[in-house]
Amino acid sequence: MISLLWLKKFLDVKMSEQKYNYHHVPVLLNESIEALVQDPSGVYLDVTYGGGGHSKEILKRLDDKAFLFGFDQDDAVKANLPLDDRFIWIKSNFKYLKKYMEYFKIEKLDGVLADLGVSSFHFDEDGRGFSFQSQASLDMRMNQEQSLRAIDVLMNYSEAQLTAIFFEYGELTNAKKIAQRIVQDRKNRKWDSCISFAHWAEDFVYGKRNKWMAQLFQALRIEVNQELTSLQMLLEDATELLKPEGRLVIISYHSLEDRLVKNWMKKERSIDMIYGRKNYIFSSWSKHAIIPSEAEQEINSRSRSAKMRVATKA
Ligand SMILES: C[S@@+](CC[C@H](N)C(=O)[O-])C[C@H]1O[C@@H](n2cnc3c(N)ncnc32)[C@H](O)[C@@H]1O
Repeated sequence: MISLLWLKKFLDVKMSEQKYNYHHVPVLLNESIEALVQDPSGVYLDVTYGGGGHSKEILKRLDDKAFLFGFDQDDAVKANLPLDDRFIWIKSNFKYLKKYMEYFKIEKLDGVLADLGVSSFHFDEDGRGFSFQSQASLDMRMNQEQSLRAIDVLMNYSEAQLTAIFFEYGELTNAKKIAQRIVQDRKNRKWDSCISFAHWAEDFVYGKRNKWMAQLFQALRIEVNQELTSLQMLLEDATELLKPEGRLVIISYHSLEDRLVKNWMKKERSIDMIYGRKNYIFSSWSKHAIIPSEAEQEINSRSRSAKMRVATKA
């Protein structure tokens, strides 16, 4: 079965147009893989394949009996898939991982790695519309087969919905004012590019402009890709499938994600009714997030907001 899968993957790669030059420098590479791989013969998931930096490092540490599944919802990553019998590529949102594991008859996992959000490629590839400096249309879809784009959010969501998105996902305190003005102005205009929306939003900026713009665009991106819903499903399903002693390793890039991960890892499974003792899902977890070294932050500015948490299944 596995060699057929390999052939299929090989053909998929050959048939894909490979039109992308996918570039991304992996963050916390050694720290994450050290934490993840405990059994070199195990079954592992890298649910955010991206440029494949983490997957390639995992494969180096696995033996011939091991398997690694790589998930990504963006077809562009096909440009980087390894030709390795132990690697199986799945183009899907990681929220469906349980369904795929059932399909492949995998009952237990040794480790799951997620390096959340978008990659450098998404910002650098102009047509994708993630950057506030981009001339591209307001798109922001990681999965290009989905229909909802950032411009649809701006043009169709209610004032209350827009306020919630900018406040909760962007942590912008003037969210309500921005939402009110969008609803008013969109009667007469449609923002035809990221940069035109960024120009329009200049009036609302406070503090450091670029940081503020990044938060504004982040809020739209989280909504378009339903990032927090997918993360919650990932945490639940990955945890269920982990073996005792299996590792969950999550790298996140904003406080909303990190909070979700932190709260999940310290969650109680049950409370002993007689003694009042708490049973936890994980036997250990990172109380403090692990962050990139100063040297890494210096070399890779995109690593600066990274926070990694590791948990071991009880
Ligand atoms: C930060 S990058 C990962 C980089 C990768 N670790 C590397 O070393 O190159 C995140 C990747 O995860 C993908 N991604 C984000 N959310 C996803 C989801 N819910 N399901 C599947 N893929 C997702 C993005 O398309 C992107 O390619």
